[in-house]
Parts: sequence; structure tokens; C-alpha cells
Amino acid sequence: MESKIKNLNEKLAKAYLGGGQARIDKQHEKKKLTARERVMYLLDEGSFEEIGALVTHRTKEFGMESQKFYGDGVVTGYGTVNGRLTYVFAQDFTVFGGSLSETHAEKICKVMDLALKVGAPIVGLNDSGGARIQEGVRSLGGYADIFYKNVQSSGVIPQISAIMGPCAGGAVYSPAMTDFTMMVEDTSYMFVTGPNVVKTVTNEEVTSEELGGASTHSTKSGVAHITSSNDVECLEDIKRLLSYLPQNNTETPELLPYELEDEVRDSLSNIVPDNANKPYDMHSVIAGIIDADSFYEIHKDYAENIIVGFARLGGRSVGIVANQPMFLAGVLDVNSSKKAARFVRFCDAFNIPLLTLEDVPGFLPGTDQEWNGIIVHGAKLLYAFSEATVPRITVITRKAYGGAYDVMNSKHIGSDMNFAWPSAEIAVMGAKGAAEIIFKKEINAAEDKEAKWKEKEAEYANLFANPYSAAERGFIDEVILPKDTRRKLIKAFAMLENKEVERPKRKHGNIPL
Ligand code: HXC
Repeated sequence: MESKIKNLNEKLAKAYLGGGQARIDKQHEKKKLTARERVMYLLDEGSFEEIGALVTHRTKEFGMESQKFYGDGVVTGYGTVNGRLTYVFAQDFTVFGGSLSETHAEKICKVMDLALKVGAPIVGLNDSGGARIQEGVRSLGGYADIFYKNVQSSGVIPQISAIMGPCAGGAVYSPAMTDFTMMVEDTSYMFVTGPNVVKTVTNEEVTSEELGGASTHSTKSGVAHITSSNDVECLEDIKRLLSYLPQNNTETPELLPYELEDEVRDSLSNIVPDNANKPYDMHSVIAGIIDADSFYEIHKDYAENIIVGFARLGGRSVGIVANQPMFLAGVLDVNSSKKAARFVRFCDAFNIPLLTLEDVPGFLPGTDQEWNGIIVHGAKLLYAFSEATVPRITVITRKAYGGAYDVMNSKHIGSDMNFAWPSAEIAVMGAKGAAEIIFKKEINAAEDKEAKWKEKEAEYANLFANPYSAAERGFIDEVILPKDTRRKLIKAFAMLENKEVERPKRKHGNIPL
């Protein structure tokens, strides 16, 4: 027995060394942690249990028989994050550049299957040169197996991908089908075709970083939801994100202990400026409402005219969707609609109640928007809210104009509680534009056109630039003082806790994609 134990320990020691010390040093030189170090940092101390440490590839061609590394380029297993079961796979760049072989894929699929059967999140730490070139189609099949499982798990267990090195070619599609993609600045990139192919096909000269680095994907494409400045920060981000989520779609997120206290927040009273055209930072409204320092923003630097993220409100995990008057006056456009729609659908799939903070002047006009399909993309957000069955509450802080009023979680599309501040303006459009259209003849006939226009603008504003017309009809449940917003919301979300909605049977809806 003693020699057998020794033999096992030697094999495991080899497995723990991955591609060997020289390649580990190289990984560290690039300011990257190894796969194993990442797993250990992500999971609670001592909680990691490895699966498949002794797996090797089965390739015989290209002299591969003599080149075998235990684990075959991916560390897989389970452990806990903040005490809660989490499955993980981490590609090991020190073994064949973390490239995906048939057996490497099988290992990933095994933990994906377990995560789905048990009902716990899965985190993938990607750092790979893509398909194992020596394996050809076997590797491509492995990718497709993973893609298929990503889709089966979608909406059942949270799936999080961190890109902590290269992720190129078809490999990008697994992260893209998970719920959140995180990227590490300077050391990660994602693209379907790399700079060399781009140069050959389109003659464009572009670096990997410009084409698919963290900054590109967090600002231009929206592919990355979160970026972090190094590996450790990225792993901390994953832990934080998981803290807002339930283990699976049959559970609700953890409710932190909380007792209703004096919840008056005077800071909220002075945020909305008197002048309706003046911007203000919706982050201050969010900060004034939620539990201290609990906002975790998603897609922070992408489509900044809408803010989305998780927060705690009286200990409860909520998803926040908020127009941001600081950017493009908070209009809805193609990118902000897509960003918010995806977030709403995630929250709905995982039983996270939704809070909408609304100050929206409408949809962004222009050929750019129309030609890029604002009709279809705006419809995504409308659809996402309409199909959501989680508790849904809206607070209108200022403007709620036109179609955007309907879209932003209005009563009419299934919101449960709709509050408005006294500063709310709920109308088809701004008073100036409205007066110009409906009083056109009178304005044109007037001697002093400007004065007439002003008079008619005031008439329209008096009637509609307030929350009362909507409140009279019950479209707004209550006009509330800003300082009471936090208390009202905590109580309303608690009241809605056991909400249940039955939908007609169908295979799936047909969201406008
Ligand atoms: C086998 C690979 C590999 C791969 C890297 N390696 N990529 N082995 N298959 N795909 C090996 C290298 O031979 C090397 O082995 C080690 O990993 C580290 O690679 P380096 O090139 O030394 O590292 P670096 O300079 O950092 O460059 C990293 C890299 C580069 C940019 C990822 O290795 C690269 O371009 N690799 C090929 C990428 C690629 O074309 N992949 C296929 C894409 S198509 P040694 O022994 O020297 O340590 C694809 C399709 C997926 O993925 C489709 C899914 C549907």
C-alpha cells in the first residue's frame, strides 16, 4: 500500500504542476495567476474538491503520445463561494496553451452536468489558445458539446465566464451564451477572428487589444459585462456577483437580515433640478435608496444612458434598471435597450425583483437609430419587461414621455407598484414640442408668435407636466415624497414577496431578436 500511495502522490504532484515550473513562471511574468491559483482564490479556503486531475488526452498523431500532462489543460471541480456550492473549471495555459482537446472538453462537460443536476452556479475561467490544433474535429465537437450544455443550463443555473487570457475563434461563443462575461484588462482578449485574419480579409491593421481587449468589449461592443484590472480583482468580482444571485431558478437570492428603521432619506429631496433640461446623476438616486454601498453595476461603461445593476434593499437582492439623465439625457436607444432587456431577462429568470427608476425623454431620433433597428431593439426591452413575472416596481423621478413611458415598466405592461415623485412629468412629449404641434394654427396666427408659443407651452405643461393626471387614472399608485422612497420600496417589495403569475402554456415566446 505504501508504494501505491507514493505512486498516487507522485501523479498528483505532477498534475498540480500543470505544464511545469518554467511555464508557470512564464504565466506569472505575464501578471497572470495559474489556473490552480485562480481556483484556490475564488473558492473558500480548503473547500476545493478536484474532479479529473489525472485525465490525459488520447491523441496519437504529431508525437502527442509522448506529450501528456495530467489534467489535460483544465482544472475542474467544486467548492464553495461564501459558503455556497459552486462548480468551476479553469483552463490551464501552461498545458498546450490551455487549448481544448476532446478530453479537456469532457472534463468541462462533466462539471457542467453536475452543476445542472444539482442546481448550483458554474464559473468558467477561460485562458486558452482555442481548439487543440493536433486534434482537429474532435476538438470542435468538444466545443459544440459545451455550447449545447450552456444553452440547456441557461435560465436554470447562473453561468459566469471570466476571460483571463486569450479566447478566440468559436471559443468565444461559450462565454457569450453564459449570463455574465468578465474580462481582465491588458491580459485578456476575445475575437472571432484575430488581427492577422482581419488584415488578410479586410486590410485593416488592428492590435489584439484594440480588436478585442477588455476596454473594447466593455465600451464598444458590450460583450464584457464587467472588467477588472487584474486576476485577483476579477475573482473578487465573481464572488461579489454571486452574492446577489440564487443557486438556481427554483430559489430566491439570499435575504440578508434587516429590520425596518427610520428610513427617511432627505438627500433624495434635492437631486432633481428645477430646470427640466438640467441633468443629474441617477447614481445619487440609487445611492439614496439602497442599503449602503450595495450597488454592483453591470455594463458600467457601455450604453451609459441606462444604468443596470444589482443592489440590496432592506437586505433583499434587487435588479435596478435606471435611465441616466447625465448621458444623452437618458434616452432609450439601440444599445441601452439591448443592455437593459438582457438584464431584465436575467433577473426574471433567477427570481430577482426589479426596480425601475425612470427619467426618460423618449427614444433617440435619427437615421442611425432607425437604420440600426431601434424598432426591434426597443421592442426587446418592452418584451422583456412585459414577460417578467418577478415583483416589479417603478419610480418616476422626472420625465416619462411617449413610448418610453410604456416601455419603462409601466403599470400597463405588468408592473406591480408604480410610484412617482412630485417632480414627475408623464406625457406624450415635452410641453414645448406638444404646444408647437397641437396649437400650430393659433401660434402662427398670433402677432407675437413666441409669446403665444410660451403661453400654450405653459398650458400643456400645467395639464401634463406632473404626475397627477396619471395618478387620477391609477396608472400611478401613489405620488410619494422623495425622502420616503426607500421606506416605500422596502415595504412594497416585502408585500410582493409571494407574487405568483401563471402564463399560458407555450414552448417559448418569440422575443424580437
Ligand atoms: C495546441 C497550442 C495551441 C492550440 C497554443 N498552444 N495554442 N497547442 N493547440 N490551439 C501551445 C503552443 O504550442 C505553446 O506550446 C503553448 O501553447 C503556449 O503558446 P505560445 O504561442 O508560446 O504562447 P503565446 O505567445 O502567449 O501565444 C498565445 C496564443 C498563440 C496567441 C494563443 O499560442 C496562438 O495563436 N495559438 C493558436 C491559436 C489558434 O489559432 N487556435 C485555434 C483557433 S480556432 P509550448 O509547448 O511551446 O509551451 C478555434 C476554433 C474553435 O479555436 C471553434 C469552436 C467552435
